[in-house]
Amino acid sequence: MSLSQIARTVKTSPTLALNEKAAILRDKGDPVIHLGGGEPKSKAPMDALLAASAQLNTGEIRYAPADGIPALKKAIIRYTEEFYDRNVKPENVIASGGAKQAIMVALQAILNPQEEVLYPAPYWVSYPEMAKLCGAIGVAALPEDGTFYPRIQDIEMRVGSYTKAVIINSPNNPSGAMYSEEFISDIVQFCEKKDIYLIMDDIYHRLIFDNRKPINCFDYTKKDIERSKIIVINGVSKQYAMTGFRIGWAVANKKLIEAMTNIQGHQTSGPSVLLQKAAVGALNGIQSSVESLRVTLENNRNVLIDQLNSFEGVRVTKPDGTFYCFADFSYYNKSSQKLSEYLIDKVMVLTVPGAEFGMEGYLRISYCGSIKDITDGIERIKWALDPNSPNELYIGDRKLVRDWV
Ligand SMILES: Cc1ncc(COP(=O)(O)O)c(C=O)c1O
Repeated sequence: MSLSQIARTVKTSPTLALNEKAAILRDKGDPVIHLGGGEPKSKAPMDALLAASAQLNTGEIRYAPADGIPALKKAIIRYTEEFYDRNVKPENVIASGGAKQAIMVALQAILNPQEEVLYPAPYWVSYPEMAKLCGAIGVAALPEDGTFYPRIQDIEMRVGSYTKAVIINSPNNPSGAMYSEEFISDIVQFCEKKDIYLIMDDIYHRLIFDNRKPINCFDYTKKDIERSKIIVINGVSKQYAMTGFRIGWAVANKKLIEAMTNIQGHQTSGPSVLLQKAAVGALNGIQSSVESLRVTLENNRNVLIDQLNSFEGVRVTKPDGTFYCFADFSYYNKSSQKLSEYLIDKVMVLTVPGAEFGMEGYLRISYCGSIKDITDGIERIKWALDPNSPNELYIGDRKLVRDWV
């Protein structure tokens, strides 16, 4: 079979593959604990469900405009006013099939083959593959000081004549690190000086802890939106626990939004009107679910960090937000792939290998599940890795015997 060059280079999404693996093991009756997931377990807000049902009941489910229905654009404009202090127009907004599609069409609208898009490491697994889908090149900038917090010089030293855009995701998947205001200010000014695009992937911006407040990139530019190359990405997937609804958006200058709309129009058309209505319900409805999710996640983070700190060989950086922790397990195995497979084989706990996010030796552990999953999962990992563990571990009435060292 002859496949295109792009098809041959694009990798399977490791996180989606892991979800499939968990489902297969569960179907077999294995007591799997999935600490690799990327979605909150709470229910979608009632206002979202009611809005979608009302639309469904009309029986009129037609094509939607390629850039989103007016009601959703209006809700996004209001959201942008509240969280970004910017008055934007409908022409500055596109609604897409998740933040994922919003980022993808933005990259397709700005990248030529062989041009580069830069992002700090560790990075979200899809950025390099999205660059490849454009025939372009993803470049990771690993903070030189060994932390998860890039400094402007880490970015500066990798920007060259081929660099077309920088992607910043803060708080970050997989590290949970929220970059400082100083860094966001520096990167906004740096990208303006270099005249390159700055994609702010803000999908986790309200899921932050320890009394932090979301950072608004527009605070650091004097340019109005039409002269700015900042592209803000957001969506309902994470903050409203609506991953399956597939609604995200981008806010940018109208020329770029027009180009993105043309691309999206031929790619998928506008997202389903039913799901856009649900997103309108979520954005305009009662907001208490976001805060309650945030509080739950903060508590889950605290429990996970306590548990991980009890390991002798694990180095942990406390996440500032999201629902991921990126912990250094290299003491146990230098290959994160091998370690992750080992934990599935031995104790049926799923984690994501750090290599997928551009940092070997780490595992991404999610805390979006229940406290019981977190504590049981970490107990199993500890049992599998600690040579001083007792010989046996009971999972329900199943007995696991430690026949390795
Ligand atoms: C950093 C980051 N950006 C974007 C997305 C995509 O979100 P959506 O589900 O809205 O496509 C994810 C999902 O995991 C993510 O972690």
